[in-house]
Amino acid sequence: MMENNVKPANGKLGILIPGLGAVATTLIAGVEAVNKGLSQPIGALTQMGNIRLGKRTENRYPKIKDFVPLAQLNDIVFGGWDVYSDNVYEAAMTAKVLEPGLLNSVKAELEGIVPMKAAFDKDYAKNLDGTHVKAGTRLEMANELMEDIKNFQEANGLDRVVVLWCGSTEVYFEESDIHQTLAAFEAALEADDKRIAPSMLYAYAALKLGVPFVNGAPNLTVDIPAMVELSKLTETPIAGKDFKTGQTLMKTIVAPGLAARALGVKGWFSTNILGNRDGYVLDDPDNFKTKEVSKLSVLEEIFQPEISPELYGELYHKVRINYYPPHGDNKESWDNIDIFGWLGYPMQIKINFLCRDSILAAPVALDLALFSDLAKRAGMSGIQEWLSFYLKSPQTAQGLRPEHDIFKQLMKLQNTLRHMMGEDLITHLGLDYYQDLVDVL
Ligand SMILES: NC(=O)c1ccc[n+]([C@@H]2O[C@H](COP(=O)([O-])OP(=O)(O)OC[C@H]3O[C@@H](n4cnc5c(N)ncnc54)[C@H](O)[C@@H]3O)[C@@H](O)[C@H]2O)c1
Repeated sequence: MMENNVKPANGKLGILIPGLGAVATTLIAGVEAVNKGLSQPIGALTQMGNIRLGKRTENRYPKIKDFVPLAQLNDIVFGGWDVYSDNVYEAAMTAKVLEPGLLNSVKAELEGIVPMKAAFDKDYAKNLDGTHVKAGTRLEMANELMEDIKNFQEANGLDRVVVLWCGSTEVYFEESDIHQTLAAFEAALEADDKRIAPSMLYAYAALKLGVPFVNGAPNLTVDIPAMVELSKLTETPIAGKDFKTGQTLMKTIVAPGLAARALGVKGWFSTNILGNRDGYVLDDPDNFKTKEVSKLSVLEEIFQPEISPELYGELYHKVRINYYPPHGDNKESWDNIDIFGWLGYPMQIKINFLCRDSILAAPVALDLALFSDLAKRAGMSGIQEWLSFYLKSPQTAQGLRPEHDIFKQLMKLQNTLRHMMGEDLITHLGLDYYQDLVDVL
């Protein structure tokens, strides 16, 4: 075993969140409830997951949190920004994800978290009408955000901070010349160029300060060359985009299984209904387009029709999201999958997932925040591909295809942790010691 160079997680970690809506408030209330011993952090690999080390014969399966030095949940201090001035208790009551009983048991903690004014531009989220926003040019807003981060760190005596975007999905747009280099981006900031999305201002502010940035929405945000350049310059980890929950989570679990058994797929129709504010924002076609692009690429990448045209060459993939207020945060999704097997005989799979969107997203958000803080202490910077496991549309180096297969993503995540800590990587070959076992019997 080699030595590792990961700095310990001493002191307090600030998690600063642009967008204190359903996901963020479910995360914060959950962590406070866990800290009070009222609940369990289910779904968070950092808290509940184990990792195998060494050969199977060694029987070493520590908890991940005992293997790598992560911030403890009771060393986390939350803060954030929103275009609405509601404190986290009020916002959580509005989001209606968690029961009032649970929220009341952590009421004081939640009421104490009051959003800072948002860097916002209504053109990027037309369905929002909040007024708790910063005035000024884009450059002024970015500078104010940097001050916000520094003040928050100082006021709370924090050792480290990460910024976790849980804000709304912004309208769809493609990167242009101003997003290509840091110099071009900074010139555009000076010029108050409207092609800089609000989420990019948060990312810029964080990265300038060497603060890791995670993007939970499908927005471009840090997925542009200028931000990658800045993250390398300030030696800061970045991760994105779009928390992998609900229907896409199921897709990246089921599709690799079908591909593994060389079963053909002709069609995959996915539809959703949801009634939270996220659904309301996504009701605008321009905002939906951003989400659609993020959701569509998954199957192409898993099935790789260009390599197996006879199995996946005709795959028809359609994704719909419908805003349906009575369901609130309880998203319901239907998938109809037309597959074919031996000699081309057709079969169908139907999946009806009655999920709770933010219940699935909160642990993902927590893990991403804790792992990006770990990455920073391990001296890693730029795109953290090993965090693809949590993301619907993983950011990769230019020219590389993203890996969507959740099992390969998990293997990469675990091997990255082993590598960080100087443990042997696991290939699952096992031949080296299997023969010895057979010989003993
Ligand atoms: N819920 C899930 O399972 C899930 C899964 C994947 C991705 N996401 C993404 O995560 C994000 C949050 O989802 P949610 O369900 O919490 O949505 P939400 O609408 O409840 O919360 C988003 C919050 O962001 C705020 N906001 C918007 N623009 C902002 C800005 N520029 N600065 C600060 N605050 C801003 C809004 O006012 C709102 O309170 C969305 O982009 C969503 O698409 C959610």
